[in-house]
Amino acid sequence: MDNAGEGRILRGGYIALSMNQLRWRDPPDITPQSFGASDQSDVISLPSGLGNILSNKLCAPLSFQSTTLSKMVRILITGSTDGFGLEAARQLVQRNHTVYLHARSQERADEVKTKCPGAAGVLVADLTSVAETRKLAEEANAIGVFDSVILNAGLLYGPFRKTPDTGVPAMVFVNVIAPYILSCLLKQPKRLTFIASVLHREANTDVKDIFWLERGENHFQDFPAYCDSKLHVMLLANAVARRFNGTSVTSVHPGWVATKLGGQGATDKLEDGVETYVMLAEGDYDQTLTGVYFEPKRKIGEPLPVTADENSQEIVVKACEDITGLKLAAWD
Ligand SMILES: NC(=O)c1ccc[n+]([C@@H]2O[C@H](COP(=O)([O-])OP(=O)(O)OC[C@H]3O[C@@H](n4cnc5c(N)ncnc54)[C@H](OP(=O)(O)O)[C@@H]3O)[C@@H](O)[C@H]2O)c1
Repeated sequence: MDNAGEGRILRGGYIALSMNQLRWRDPPDITPQSFGASDQSDVISLPSGLGNILSNKLCAPLSFQSTTLSKMVRILITGSTDGFGLEAARQLVQRNHTVYLHARSQERADEVKTKCPGAAGVLVADLTSVAETRKLAEEANAIGVFDSVILNAGLLYGPFRKTPDTGVPAMVFVNVIAPYILSCLLKQPKRLTFIASVLHREANTDVKDIFWLERGENHFQDFPAYCDSKLHVMLLANAVARRFNGTSVTSVHPGWVATKLGGQGATDKLEDGVETYVMLAEGDYDQTLTGVYFEPKRKIGEPLPVTADENSQEIVVKACEDITGLKLAAWD
C-alpha cells in the first residue's frame, strides 16, 4: 500500500495519512496543535503529495516502531458506480480506507470519479464478458492483495441479452459467472463477500440449466431468473468458503432498497445494507466465520437450507467451470 491511507505509530499515538490529510489518533505528548491544527480539530489538510513526505520525515528520525495500522484496509467493490456499491465505497473512503471502485465502461468510470473523489482508483470492465472479467482480475492483482473484495455488481430487469462469448443471459453472467471468474483469478483476499438477495428463497432449487442454454430465450423471465441466480451465487459462495482456507467468505442480502435495481416500491433503507458492507469490508466481525449469510444492520441471517447442500454447490461450480474453462482451485 502507499503511505496514503496508512498510519504509523509515533510515540504511542499515531498519525494516519489519507487524502492528504494528517489525522491525529490517541495523541501522546505531541498534539495536533504542534502541527497547526485548531483547538477543535484533529485534522490538518496537506498540499498534494506532502502526505508521503511528511510521513517519512515524522516517522523515520524518531525510530519508534513504524507499522501499518490493521484498521486501514484495501478494498475492491465491483459495481460501485451506483446503489449499495457506491454508497459503501463513499463511506469506506470517508473512514480513510484505500478503496478501488469498478465501472462497466470508461464513461461510467469518469462519472463515478466525481461521485467518490477519494477513491484510490477505478477499474473498468463489462462483467458480461469473460475477457473483460479476466482483465479486471489481472488489473486488481497488479494492485496487490486486497483485504476485502465485495462482489456487488448485479442486474435484475431486462430481456435475455445473450452474452456474445457464452450465450448466457447478461443478468446470469453478471450475477453468477463474473463472481466465479473473479473467485478463480483474484489473489486470495482476507474477506470475500458475495452480494446475494433474500430472493434466493424464491428460487427453483433443482439447480438445472442454470445458464439457460437448454430453455433458451423464449422461456426467459427476468424476475424468476434473478431469484435463481441469487440462489446460485450463494451456492457458489459456500463452495468457495469450503475451498479457501484463511479467507472469510460471506454472502449478503443487503435489503430491498429503491436503487436502480431495487425499483421504486422498495421498503428498506440503503444505509442499513451499507452498514453490513462496511462491517465486512473492515473485518469488524468474527472472521473465523465463513460460509455465513448476513442481512442489513450487520445481522446474521437464515438462508434457505439448500444453500448448505454440497452437491448443489458443486453442480454450480462445475457449470461455471465448464462455461469459463477456469477451475476453482482450493487455496491455503
Ligand atoms: N436494491 C435491492 O433491493 C437489492 C436487494 C437484494 C440484493 N441486491 C443486490 O445488491 C447488489 C447491488 O445492487 P443495487 O441495488 O445497488 O443496484 P444498482 O444501483 O443497479 O447497482 C448495480 C451495480 O452493478 C453494476 N453493473 C451492472 N451490470 C454490470 C456489468 N455488465 N458490468 C459491470 N458492472 C455492472 C452497475 O453499473 P451501472 O451503474 O453502470 O449500471 C452498478 O454499479 C446487486 O448484486 C443486487 O442484486 C439489491
